[in-house]
Amino acid sequence: MSNNIESTLVENRVFKPAKDFAKKARIGSMAQYRKMWKESVTKPEKFFAREAADLTWQKKWTKVLEWKCPYAKWFIGGKLNVAENCLDRHLGTARANKAAIIWQGEPMGEKRTLTYAQLHREVCRFANVLKRNGVKNGDRVLIYMPMVPEAAVAMLACARIGAMHSVVFGGFSAESIKDRVLDSGAKIILTADGGFRRGAVVPLKKNVDDALTLLAGGGANPVKRVIVFKRTGQEVHIEEGRDVWWSRELEYVDADCPPALLDAETPLFILYTSGSTGKPKGILHTTGGYLLHAYMTCKYVFDLRDEDVYWCTADVGWVTGHTYMVYGPLAMGATSFMYEGAPNWPENDRFWQIIEENGVTVFYTAPTAIRAFMKWGDSWVKKHDLSSLRLLGTVGEPINPEAWMWYHRTIGGSRCPIVDTWWQTETGGHMITPLPGATPTKPGTATLPFFGVDAAVVDDAGNELGANQGGKLVIRKPWPSMLRGIWGDKARYKATYWSEYKGMYFAGDGARRDKDGNFWIVGRIDDVLNVAGHRLGTAEVESALVSHPSVAEAAVVGKPDELKGQAVVCFVTVKEGVKADRALRDALRAHVRKVIGPVATPDEVRFAGGLPKTRSGKIMRRLLKQIAAGEALKGDTTTLEDFSVVATLAAAED
Ligand code: WTA
Repeated sequence: MSNNIESTLVENRVFKPAKDFAKKARIGSMAQYRKMWKESVTKPEKFFAREAADLTWQKKWTKVLEWKCPYAKWFIGGKLNVAENCLDRHLGTARANKAAIIWQGEPMGEKRTLTYAQLHREVCRFANVLKRNGVKNGDRVLIYMPMVPEAAVAMLACARIGAMHSVVFGGFSAESIKDRVLDSGAKIILTADGGFRRGAVVPLKKNVDDALTLLAGGGANPVKRVIVFKRTGQEVHIEEGRDVWWSRELEYVDADCPPALLDAETPLFILYTSGSTGKPKGILHTTGGYLLHAYMTCKYVFDLRDEDVYWCTADVGWVTGHTYMVYGPLAMGATSFMYEGAPNWPENDRFWQIIEENGVTVFYTAPTAIRAFMKWGDSWVKKHDLSSLRLLGTVGEPINPEAWMWYHRTIGGSRCPIVDTWWQTETGGHMITPLPGATPTKPGTATLPFFGVDAAVVDDAGNELGANQGGKLVIRKPWPSMLRGIWGDKARYKATYWSEYKGMYFAGDGARRDKDGNFWIVGRIDDVLNVAGHRLGTAEVESALVSHPSVAEAAVVGKPDELKGQAVVCFVTVKEGVKADRALRDALRAHVRKVIGPVATPDEVRFAGGLPKTRSGKIMRRLLKQIAAGEALKGDTTTLEDFSVVATLAAAED
């Protein structure tokens, strides 16, 4: 695998942590990092037992780790509650009346602050609402909410009573909600009338209604109750006997709700994410190990302090929103800032204005956003005083060195360390990342593994590769926040992550290590796209396309995109007698949006006479990728069944 040229060019630029930053940081030198890392992988039981003592346990564990590959159990016999760790334990301290969540709505001027005491009260009350609506330990609760504090309240309320949440991003469609309800067996949905996004209203309740109509049509609808939070005030349908208003429900309950006593391996949540085949899979995370990793990474990677105002810009519907907007920072007793809307509403400087207004100190966002800010120009940034910032982070995709440098200079004033954090929904939290007071960084590399993470780059046979040789990224030991499975699909769990190499977790990413041991992540090497930091399975988009009556066959590939990282390019052949015209192209775009959601909107739909296939009938994606990118065809084409289709493909334009 080749690395990109830019990375090679700037590879030698090393940014060492500033002395005063290192002095204050929890990990202030490479020697300290190395010592701790070594202990964390050679004596994980000792290391993690010590770290876990920072959390509040109702009962101490008897054994730290049981590993029967691919099944891990952490803190066996231990009992704890995530909500108690995120809330109750701060109440007896000076944190009780500090801001837990500072929120701003998209419409200018809308602000709310919830202190730890207030958030605790809201969570207890809402947990009682869940109870009174029949939610019990182990039940699944689907959350389809805008970015309002109630989304966090809902998650923590589930955690408090031992119910599992499954948050669905607001950019997914009714059909996607339906699929997730069916797969998870959720019997209750928490939603809102709508949410604000770029000045418009997102019809969340309407999408839920449509999902429930689809479910009723299929004859299997486990959903008995929908609780609706009033956010926008738009008119929505309320189905008598099924739908109730959030605010009305709160009138029936008090704030007395002791945290449930839960086993460390109690499931905490399911989060659906795209894979290379089939429908999205429900990634399962559990209580003790996940919380510990969320907490530890906030402590060591973001180095969070009581005086920080920390802002993670991810939506709560993605894993980043789970671990780094809700669970990690709250477990640390930090102040987590939350913003409802778009970065360019009402104007391109909204983020910078927020940072200035709230004195944000630690800022965590995605490379795709950074590239958009770069394109909008420095003048938007210059209008604001960003001197409160002390640490920057990125996540979601490889960051190109230009974007890194811009982030460093223009946003960080050349003074803030950048933590480029590599991880996945499956890993629960940061896996490869600098520690800001210790690790020398280079633009474009996520640098070194976090504590407990035994990462390596291997060849196809599973042998570790030498410096600068491209291969596949694997993790060779269990870590506390690793996924515990795919909901309802043991076989797929094994097949996806543990069958490429014996005894190793296969991440699906390509990477290389440089001579200093830094990991340079190249990106997905399976059929998963990364579009604006969002994971999207090519198989999902293909299946959406072929569900349209005019489509015979479809193949979807990614194409390099300056802003989004990758763009979605669809090659489509139509059925006999169908006119492949602009109207159909628009219809197919709309169809994909309807089936999956706006996040999956195709950038290009190209009609083709046929798709390039091998003699055994497999679509040759490699060729399609080259065609989509406008490159000359490289590599072996001798297995191609009919070369003439390639000519028609190259001519097909959107
Ligand atoms: C990619 C998001 C390079 C990677 C937390 C991974 C990254 C996928 C980085 C997971 C990074 C995430 N550098 N690539 N710092 N962070 N990725 O599950 O391809 O939405 O496999 O989790 O994003 O995406 P997911």
